[in-house]
Amino acid sequence: MANIIDGKARAKEIRIALKKRVLKQQELTGLLPCLAVVLVGDNPASASYVRGKEQMCGRVSIESRVYRLPEETTQQQLLDLVDELNADKGVDGILVQLPLPKHIDTLTIMDRIDYRKDVDGFHVVNAGKLMVGEKGFVPCTPRGIIDLIKLTGTEIAGKNAVVIGRSNIVGKPVAMLLMAENATVTVCHSKTQNLGDVVKNADIVVAAIGRPGTIKGDMIKDGAVVIDVGTTAVNGVLNGDVEFEEAAKHASYITPVPGGVGPMTIAMLLENTFEAFMEYRVK
Ligand SMILES: NC(=O)c1ccc[n+]([C@@H]2O[C@H](COP(=O)([O-])OP(=O)(O)OC[C@H]3O[C@@H](n4cnc5c(N)ncnc54)[C@H](OP(=O)(O)O)[C@@H]3O)[C@@H](O)[C@H]2O)c1
Repeated sequence: MANIIDGKARAKEIRIALKKRVLKQQELTGLLPCLAVVLVGDNPASASYVRGKEQMCGRVSIESRVYRLPEETTQQQLLDLVDELNADKGVDGILVQLPLPKHIDTLTIMDRIDYRKDVDGFHVVNAGKLMVGEKGFVPCTPRGIIDLIKLTGTEIAGKNAVVIGRSNIVGKPVAMLLMAENATVTVCHSKTQNLGDVVKNADIVVAAIGRPGTIKGDMIKDGAVVIDVGTTAVNGVLNGDVEFEEAAKHASYITPVPGGVGPMTIAMLLENTFEAFMEYRVK
């Protein structure tokens, strides 16, 4: 049976170390990092993610400001708030919670955020920096995934990594990061043929699909490291994209859902916020 990768414990470890760095900077400069989170509308899942981010900021002594806007907020009103936060020297990171209501264009909003405050790493400048290998803000979930793979002690260089999913927030950036670690990377999506054969060849599997059970246990090569990013709520229970029980019989390491990738996403958001603070306010 596979070893379980405990994302919750790893995220806690990261937060404890980060809090020490935050408090040290407060001692030296009198300043604390600040994250502004903007929530538009009343999607219950989004509201719960925002509460989680607010709570975790508090745990590491990062200040948080939450802007809760009504569903009928116009694109222009949201752009005006982003402009205000961009200009605010007391704000280090800006996160606009996705998904946005349909009448607002997500990419227009993402690209309006000052890329130096784009702690989600979704701005086209940060996506470009990741692509060309320049330092920028790396999206939080992909950054957390790489940390978890390294936590297993797996040498990524030279391994076959298969990423299932090609979204801008998970699949594409995680593929870039794995390539930067010198893995041989294959990216699969809904039009991929013979998915099972491709996955069977993987030493590292990252499933970011959003369809429970797409990755069957018998697709997993013996000894593979399996990272399940999927979080689909079915009757109030969170489900991953991998058939956990069966996959665990073949994998050497596997993340659970929940308690795997999820907690790492917020931990990396806190890290990115601290980095923004250090790079653009303290320096
Ligand atoms: N734990 C966390 O912190 C965290 C963070 C972000 C996302 N997530 C979860 O991760 C999952 C993916 O999120 P996302 O935002 O990347 O989703 P997304 O934008 O919906 O992308 C899903 C990807 O999966 C591909 N796909 C769909 N059906 C497939 C199939 N049968 N076989 C192979 N590929 C298939 C799609 O292919 P096409 O491109 O061809 O459509 C697409 O590239 C979701 O469950 C989400 O909730 C979790």
